[in-house]
Amino acid sequence: MKASIFVFNTVLGCVFASNVAIAGVVELRPNDPVYVKLGKNIYVDQCASCHGVNLEGQEGWRDKMVDGMRLAPPHDRSGHTWHHPDESLFNLTKYGFEAMIGSKYKVSMPVYEGVLKDDEIIAALSYIKSRWPADIVEIHNKVNADYKLNKEMEKKTGS
Ligand code: HEC
Repeated sequence: MKASIFVFNTVLGCVFASNVAIAGVVELRPNDPVYVKLGKNIYVDQCASCHGVNLEGQEGWRDKMVDGMRLAPPHDRSGHTWHHPDESLFNLTKYGFEAMIGSKYKVSMPVYEGVLKDDEIIAALSYIKSRWPADIVEIHNKVNADYKLNKEMEKKTGS
């Protein structure tokens, strides 16, 4: 269980993000009422069956496996969604775990490419962020700022 979280963190942070071309910059809009409203509908429609209407995730998500798969984690402060920058959350939702990790990975979460438009994915994630308390939003903004800085450094140093 630890191992998959580690892979996820590592891959999300660097390898994958730099391999995927996304038009424009991915930025969540938790303060934009239009995005948040659209995002709520999409979340309820597409995500809540696993991640919970109140972002609470599936019971036992920390250590229970079902059919060799992990359960859906919460998207509230008790989970780790807010540990990842906007772009990683977007890429994971759009392209799925296998694309992120670059190998086979058994997971119940669908790949949303071709199901949701980019804006709809951003809206669903913006809705999730709009539900976070101020201290978590602040930490997540810092995660984004650090991520951006790292990317700029990588560009400059070519690594
Ligand atoms: C059929 C169940 C299912 C649905 C529907 C689903 N997910 Fe997931 N999701 C999961 C599971 C299971 C995981 C964790 C997988 C793992 O770690 O192996 C996950 C993980 C995630 C993560 C990573 C969270 C973290 O803490 O690092 C994000 C982000 C996410 N889902 C977003 C979404 C969004 C947005 C939607 C709707 C557009 C959605 N999911 C729909 C099952 C689902």
